[in-house]
Formats: sequence, structure tokens, C-alpha cells
Amino acid sequence: MNEVTDALSPIEDGFRAENCFLFGPSGAGKTTVARASVRALRREVLDVPHAYVNCWQDYTRNAVLEILARDLVGTAVSRTSSTSELIKRVKMNLNSPGVVILDEVDQLEETEVLYDLHEIRGLSWIGIANDEIDLLAGLDDRVRSRVSVGYRVRFDSYSDDMIAEILERRARSGLGPNAAEADVFERIARLCDGDARTGIKTLRVSARFAMDEGLSTIPVRVVDDALPQAKREMARKTYSKLNQHQRVIYEILREEGPLIQRELYERYTRKHADPVTLRYLRDSHLLKLEHYDLIETEHRAGKKFYDLSIEHHEVHPEQV
Ligand SMILES: Nc1ncnc2c1ncn2[C@@H]1O[C@H](COP(=O)(O)OP(=O)(O)OP(=O)(O)O)[C@@H](O)[C@H]1O
Ligand SMILES: [Mg+2]
Repeated sequence: MNEVTDALSPIEDGFRAENCFLFGPSGAGKTTVARASVRALRREVLDVPHAYVNCWQDYTRNAVLEILARDLVGTAVSRTSSTSELIKRVKMNLNSPGVVILDEVDQLEETEVLYDLHEIRGLSWIGIANDEIDLLAGLDDRVRSRVSVGYRVRFDSYSDDMIAEILERRARSGLGPNAAEADVFERIARLCDGDARTGIKTLRVSARFAMDEGLSTIPVRVVDDALPQAKREMARKTYSKLNQHQRVIYEILREEGPLIQRELYERYTRKHADPVTLRYLRDSHLLKLEHYDLIETEHRAGKKFYDLSIEHHEVHPEQV
């Protein structure tokens, strides 16, 4: 968080901030830190123009620019605005340095938007992804050399102790002072592999299980059953976030997995009206689905097979 607030600090003196790139595993606190840093900045400087884009949902250049026109500079946007109109609109209305969070930035299909952002005076961004990818790889060399990423911040998974502490605080503020003993937080922490999201969700399901039994404190015995239920509920939420390409892949694997990449791609191009390239599918969509534990890969007889993960084969997420 200190590094991100450092990157943003020029804004306090009226200058453009440094771009930053946050990367690390799921549930390590990247989105939380990015948002909290922007919030902290807004306490120092009132009216900092800011926006949040989830590039998983908004993966085209126009979609990102529309959000900037709407949320960063607060103008009304019509669906038909062209790219150049949107850029012009943001440029004209951004009167002081601002920042945009580009969450899941590895999902951007049109990375030239990073150059558009660079061209908007005073604008900086905080990009977030799971892997330390080269965000600028798709840009031409000339453009690339101008866009700089001043801070790269690696997030590691939380330790068990840190997760236990996060859970304890959550329980205290969300459930009351005596909702659970330390052994409950420790047990959950041990099971959730440094992923705070899984931990918090498991705590919530444990509390629900305890309530169902009419108990006012969470007994440690419910934790082991709460974890798989928490994972199913998270799977449903992840599924609901998939874009149409990812849904097509998901449904194909559900019906026909495991498949090798070529078979998967061939079926995908048949089912999707406007398919992306094989390379894009692999580097972006398949990798993302793997990160979110929706699909898993296995090497057999020198080939790599893709399949849905077990939780997803068991029950369709829409039915959880
Ligand atoms: N230090 C923390 N203190 C309290 N809660 C936290 C902390 N870090 C993360 N959390 C909580 O854990 C959950 C997951 O965190 P977050 O969404 O920031 O993870 P992430 O690194 O962005 O994961 P992903 O890569 O899956 O998007 C959120 O509910 C968040 O509020
Ligand atoms: Mg996140």
C-alpha cells in the first residue's frame, strides 16, 4: 500500500502520478489495496478525478474510454460515441490530475487504450493482474517507449497468521465480539492457502451453518464443511463474471472435456460468432479461467488437456 500511495503522491502537488502495476495471486489484496490507496488520496486532495474499470467486463478500447468519459470526468455518454470523440471528451474535461484503476488488466483486448491514456494529460493508472505480464507487449515500439510503468508491486499470498487476523477483525466487526474463538480463524486460515477471499467466504458460510443450528458462536467443526460450500458459491460468482468467449469455452469443456487446445479451439470457433485468435484465447481466456480455478490442465502422453475443475463438473454454478 505504501508503494501505491507513493506512486500516487505527485497528484497531491498537482502533477501526474506514476503508473503502477500490481500483480500476484488471487485473494492477496490487490484490488483492495488499489481502492484503499485511491480512497486515501481522496482524503488528501478533494475531488481527485478517479474511475474503476474491470477489464474483464470492459475489455475493448471503447468500453474503457466510455467509463472514463462517464466516471472520471462525469459526462453523459451515448452508446454511439466514437473512440476519438470519447478521447476528446475526456481530454477536454479532465482539469486536474486523475487516476484510473484497471483491474484484471490482462483481459484488455485492445491494449492501445494504454496509449490513449498516456495521451490524456494528467492521467495515470493502476493496472492489476495475476501474473507479471508485459502489459505493453502489443504496442508498437515507438509508442511503447513513451508509456512508462513507474512502480511494479508484487503481492504474495497472505501467511496463515495474517489470514487469521483478517478473519478475526472481520468477525468482530461483522458478527460481533464473541462470534468465534481463535481456533476457528486458525482452522480456516490453514485451509484457504493464503487467499483472503476464500477465507472470508468460508467464515461467512461457517457463520450461516452455526446460525442454522441455532448457535451464537461458530464451532470449529463446521469449518471443514463450510469450505467446499464457500468454494461452490465463489465458483458461481466467478461464472457470472465470465464474458461470452469464456462462457463458450466453459460450456464446451462441460460437455466434452477434457480436450486438447486444437480441439477446444476448433469447437469454440464453430460456436462463437466472432472468435478471437487461438493465441489470444490461450494467453488470455484460458489462462484466466485457470487462475480462477474454473479449468485445470493435465499433461498426458505429451499433450496438454484442458478440463473444467471438479467443482464445476459436479454442479452447474447457476444451480448452486
Ligand atoms: N489486508 C486485508 N485486510 C482485510 N481484508 C482484506 C485484506 N486483503 C484482502 N482482504 C479481503 O479479501 C478479499 C480478497 O481481496 P482482493 O479482492 O483485494 O484480492 P485480489 O488480490 O484482488 O484477488 P483477485 O486476483 O482474485 O482479484 C476481499 O474481500 C478483501 O476485502
Ligand atoms: Mg482483484
